[in-house]
Amino acid sequence: MPAFYAAILRIMMMPNRLLPILALAFLSPALAADRPDLPIADFEGSDFGGWKVKGDAFGKAPTKGPVEGQMTVEGFLGTGFINGYHGGDDSTGRLESPPFKIERKYLNFLIGGGKFPGETCVNLIVDGKVVRTATGTNDRPGGSERLQWESWDLGDLSGKSATLQVIDERKGSWGHLTVDHFVQSDEGKAFTLAKEFTINQRYLVWPVSKDASEKRRFIMTLDGEEMPLLYSDIHLSNNPDFWVFTDLANYQGRKLTVTGKIPAKLASAWEKVAISATYPGEEETYKEPLRPQYHFSSRRGWINDPNGLVWKDGTWHLCYQHNPYNHGWDNMHWGHATSPDLFHWTEHAPALFPDEEGYMYSGSGFVVPSGSAGFPVKGNGGSAIAFAYTAEGTRSYLPGRKTEQGLAISDDNGKTFRKFEGNPVVPHIVAENRDPKIFWHETTKDWVMPLYYDRNEYGILVSKDLVKWKETSRYDIPTDSECPDLFELPVEGGQGSRWIAWAAQGKYMIGSFDGREFKAESGPHQHYFGSAYAGQSYDNAPDKRRVHFGWMRDTGAGLNGAPFNLQMTLPMDFTLRKSGDKLRLWAEPSVEVEKLRGETEQWKDFTFSDGDTDPLAAFKGGQFEVEAVIDADSAASGMGFRIFGEHLAVWKKADQSFSGAGGAQAPVDGKLHVRIFVDTVSLEVFVNGTYVSKYIRQTPGLKPVRIVAEGGEVKFDSLKIHRIKSVWK
Ligand code: FRU
Repeated sequence: MPAFYAAILRIMMMPNRLLPILALAFLSPALAADRPDLPIADFEGSDFGGWKVKGDAFGKAPTKGPVEGQMTVEGFLGTGFINGYHGGDDSTGRLESPPFKIERKYLNFLIGGGKFPGETCVNLIVDGKVVRTATGTNDRPGGSERLQWESWDLGDLSGKSATLQVIDERKGSWGHLTVDHFVQSDEGKAFTLAKEFTINQRYLVWPVSKDASEKRRFIMTLDGEEMPLLYSDIHLSNNPDFWVFTDLANYQGRKLTVTGKIPAKLASAWEKVAISATYPGEEETYKEPLRPQYHFSSRRGWINDPNGLVWKDGTWHLCYQHNPYNHGWDNMHWGHATSPDLFHWTEHAPALFPDEEGYMYSGSGFVVPSGSAGFPVKGNGGSAIAFAYTAEGTRSYLPGRKTEQGLAISDDNGKTFRKFEGNPVVPHIVAENRDPKIFWHETTKDWVMPLYYDRNEYGILVSKDLVKWKETSRYDIPTDSECPDLFELPVEGGQGSRWIAWAAQGKYMIGSFDGREFKAESGPHQHYFGSAYAGQSYDNAPDKRRVHFGWMRDTGAGLNGAPFNLQMTLPMDFTLRKSGDKLRLWAEPSVEVEKLRGETEQWKDFTFSDGDTDPLAAFKGGQFEVEAVIDADSAASGMGFRIFGEHLAVWKKADQSFSGAGGAQAPVDGKLHVRIFVDTVSLEVFVNGTYVSKYIRQTPGLKPVRIVAEGGEVKFDSLKIHRIKSVWK
């Protein structure tokens, strides 16, 4: 780490002896003398007022609002401010103030824009050295053009001559900075403050706002260590929409230091950040009106991709991309839950936190038998659980990091995970390289890692010891990307086996794999339709099962207002079958779902025409499954079901596909095998091996499910409707 950034990090970490002093300054405005503030620059004039300008980024004068192509800028004072967006993100430049004398304890200013230390920043220069530095708040698309207060304590520099630099040397997304209103004062506006706790309860609780525009970064360290346990951007709020928590179950008895920059106006929210046995709202968790009742969702926050799927000793592990602190994608942790049956989940503390390696992106889980790795392993039966993850790097608070692949190993059979000391095991390769899916290849006795590279391209890396990896080949999954899976399936009712190379949108290639190279025979074929994305299959599942979870994305249906967002698909078992003379992946809901069935109503061998009394008409909403075998040669041109009035799951004879579904495989022996699952906010349809999912609302007044028979009668071999019991009751 460059010495300069190490110094900044140390300032962020705040030596304990300084804390009480800062806390006092923060809480005691009375200490402020009655002297007036000393403005340095408010940028209200028609020029830069003696500041030297270089480059184009800042234009010719302070601006009075956003420049062309910029989002609304908020938070500046008066009408003018400094705006580095002239010429867009790619322009660069710098401004330098005339020298001034440091005559007050604090320098306050407003800052917004890109969060790139050294590239989009304000520097304070004393004796030719950068002695303080600050950035804006954004490092990814989206975000906010809001300027926020920053305060520097300049007590140690009193009487010195100083200059300010405003720097925009960054191109691309958020390659600009906005600043306003530099003023010396006896009172600070926003401080880096710290709190210390002994971790003697499970949670550190935070009151938050669902509005993402004013988040702040907090760094948490254990026992005064130099490197943080984790950092996260949290939307602390005096009037919380809900409370979230840092789950510290695995760090009991240790000392926690939490450091963050707190504006004076959030003093009361900061007061409430505390260690607690429960979090406010916990009694309502899993009972909220929008809570899925038999799909996995997290107690709090956002989830995306399933990660680290591995079965060991009777336990299914499900990790997931997770922001524990709000609705949106951010702060990527690996949340961790376990289940004996793929449905009843217990959420544990996250397995991986964002730390100096940056965000923890997607990856896999696998069982490591002792002797098969270049490091000792501990666990039941001499084998351990390990995870392969992507350290995204560039979103670390340390500059200069890149995306790399690392391992995390459990010494206690999957309860806690520690990062391997030899990380990264795969250094940066290309622009995007992520989502390692490691498995053991029995024939070559090698570990294999398919890894997403870029565009539609994936690499295959192999290793004897999980530590040293070598690329052996590359392959493409046309029109798809991210999150590879690679696994072998026997051909059902046929001969031999094939390998499936899978990508995030549910496109897959069928082919062969010799431990070095994947050779495609056909594809891409489409398996998923609707919202499912970024799925992967379990390592080491019993009975040679290939059990898969996807993530149900779809921000449009995000559960705004609820303290959690999005869910996993149903678990499904993959097999490989013949469809006509072609091989296709076939998905069935995992059999464990049948254990959740409550009352069932059923009908056999009947026909249904438009206008007939619908046997399902009296069925009330909630959680249920419709199971039907329909004769695809029925006279009707369209046959199936309508869910909550608007969602169709209907086989269209003319185009041999499912409307509202996106496609389906050919009828088997002239039959359509349909299973429809409705949970609180989701609809999933399995039809002859393909899978469709979407978010829905159970609109009161609309019938949960009706039979559709378009242009003739529909013949049913069987029709069943099952209540599905909640896994939370
Ligand atoms: C897929 C993905 C992955 C990445 C992760 C980050 O949804 O983009 O490629 O690892 O999400 O959250």
